[in-house]
Amino acid sequence: MKHLLCAKMIREEALLLLDTAEAMAATQTRRIKKLPVLRGRTVATLFFEDSTRTRLSFETAAKRLSMDVISFSAKGSSLSKGESLKDTAQTIVAMGAQALIVRHYASGAPERLAHSGWVDVPILNAGDGTHQHPTQALLDAFTLRRHFYNGANEPAPTGSDLTGAHVVIVGDILHSRVARSNVDLLTLLGATVTLVAPPTLLPVGIESWPATVCYDLDHALASHPNAVMMLRVQRERMSHAGGGFFPSPLEYHRVYGLGSARVRAAGSQAIIMHPGPMNRGLEITAEAADCLQSVVTEQVANGISIRMAALYLLLAHGEEIQ
Ligand code: NCD
Repeated sequence: MKHLLCAKMIREEALLLLDTAEAMAATQTRRIKKLPVLRGRTVATLFFEDSTRTRLSFETAAKRLSMDVISFSAKGSSLSKGESLKDTAQTIVAMGAQALIVRHYASGAPERLAHSGWVDVPILNAGDGTHQHPTQALLDAFTLRRHFYNGANEPAPTGSDLTGAHVVIVGDILHSRVARSNVDLLTLLGATVTLVAPPTLLPVGIESWPATVCYDLDHALASHPNAVMMLRVQRERMSHAGGGFFPSPLEYHRVYGLGSARVRAAGSQAIIMHPGPMNRGLEITAEAADCLQSVVTEQVANGISIRMAALYLLLAHGEEIQ
């Protein structure tokens, strides 16, 4: 594996990432959480779009592997002076970065960096436009795999996949790189996926995705899925089209929002997931977000193990985890 660009990968690679993340998680119960394995190595985070948890999670993961971290964010940088992605990346690599973690508003930007020859370091996609967010899909698969096998956030058996699991993904599929990446990865691992959204928030060509589409959330929940993944309504990506994707927030909430009654209807086996940031009161109520079946904070914690695994597999070249 040279880069981590997309959740469409080979099955063995996905399982290796999940199993390595379990090994990383096992080290994180120690009193001293820092592993020496990548000490002396430098990674840079290049964020051209806002982020809270993905950026902090990658930085934490790198530091737990004893790496040095350089942070670039578009706000306050020379980007406002017209500096290009190419020049920004080359500048940061010239400062010694040995891998780039890239979030960009343009779909395909990390791929361009990886394959253009501008820089010759591993690229990790931290979310590009409405396209892909592979580490989010991996941390979701990791969290689901744990609950699917144990009914709790406990280590899953090595090499296990998600055959037999059913995941319902609900909301703004149109703008969601999380949904795209999850459909790719969860189905690769044997899960079945149902997508629930109003027709206005489904992308053109959805018929070709390896998932079933349903417009009725209550109908989808009645099938008692193993997980219900709620997506954020991405209002910042809607303004360009003048809005009009749904009649009103209240109406969206009534038809596609998750509250306590729908959590009960889904059944006690269903974990409630959300990649964050949540619009409480819109796609999910506070009661559903904070209920016992909600794994939202577990997803965040598991994200560190996944990102440690990704950095380790891209940079350690087989050195022992210790
Ligand atoms: C998501 C993203 O940025 O794609 N958040 C995240 O990475 N945890 C989803 C979102 O913004 O709604």
